Amino acid sequence: MFIAAAVSFYLLLMLHCPAPSSATEKSPCDTCTKLVDRFHKGLEDTSKKNFGGGNTAWEEKTLSKYETSEIRLVEIIENLCDSSDFECNVMVEEHEEQIEKWWFKMRKKYPDLRKWFCIETIEVCCPSGTYGPDCVACLGGAERPCHGNGFCSGDGTRLGDGSCRCKAEYTGPFCLECADGYFSTGRNDTHSFCSVNQKPQFVPRITQYISLNRK
Ligand SMILES: *[C@@H]1O[C@H](CO)[C@@H](O)[C@H](O)[C@H]1NC(C)=O
Repeated sequence: MFIAAAVSFYLLLMLHCPAPSSATEKSPCDTCTKLVDRFHKGLEDTSKKNFGGGNTAWEEKTLSKYETSEIRLVEIIENLCDSSDFECNVMVEEHEEQIEKWWFKMRKKYPDLRKWFCIETIEVCCPSGTYGPDCVACLGGAERPCHGNGFCSGDGTRLGDGSCRCKAEYTGPFCLECADGYFSTGRNDTHSFCSVNQKPQFVPRITQYISLNRK
C-alpha cells in the first residue's frame, strides 16, 4: 500500500545510519506515547489546513471525505516520526496496519488512540498505576501508587517491577515510613505525611530540649 511504500523507503534510508546510542534509549511506551501525540498534532494540522468554512455542498462532501480519507492518514503518518528517531520509525513500520485499522474501522468506537494502540493493541504501555507485561497494580495500589509518596517502577509501561522509589521524605517498600531527618505529621493505613518540621512526640531526643525551651 501507499503508506507501506513510503515507510519502507524511509527505513531503507535509515539502515545506512549508525545505530542509535543506548544513552538515548527510551521505553517503547515513551515511543508510542510520543507517536500518538504526533498523530493528534497531525489531526489538528490537517483539519486547519482543509476546513475553510462556508462551503458549498460539493466542498462539504469532498472535505468530509477527506476527513476520514487515506490521503489524510498518509499526511499524518508522514509526520509521525523525526527522521532521526529510529525507534519511532520502526514502530510505525511494524504496526502500520493497526494504525490503518484504527483509522478506518476502530476510530469511532475507540476514540482514545493511545489506549487502543499503545495499551491494548501493541501492548507497550499499561494504564497508569500499573506496570509489567500484565499491567499489574503498583505497590500501594493503582489509584495512588506508592501511597502518593513515590514513583512506581515501570508505572504505565510493560516494564519495571512495581517497586517504589520514594520521594526524599519517605522510605520503606510502600513509602509510608519517614526517611532519616523527616518526621511524621500524620498517618493511617493509606496515607502518610512526613516533613522536616518535627512534632516533638515523634522525636524523643529533641523533645526534652523543646519542652525546656517552652517552659
Ligand atoms: C487517611 O488519611 C487521609 C488524609 O488525611 C484521608 O483522606 C483518608 O480518608 C484516611 N483514611 C482512613 C481509612 O482513615
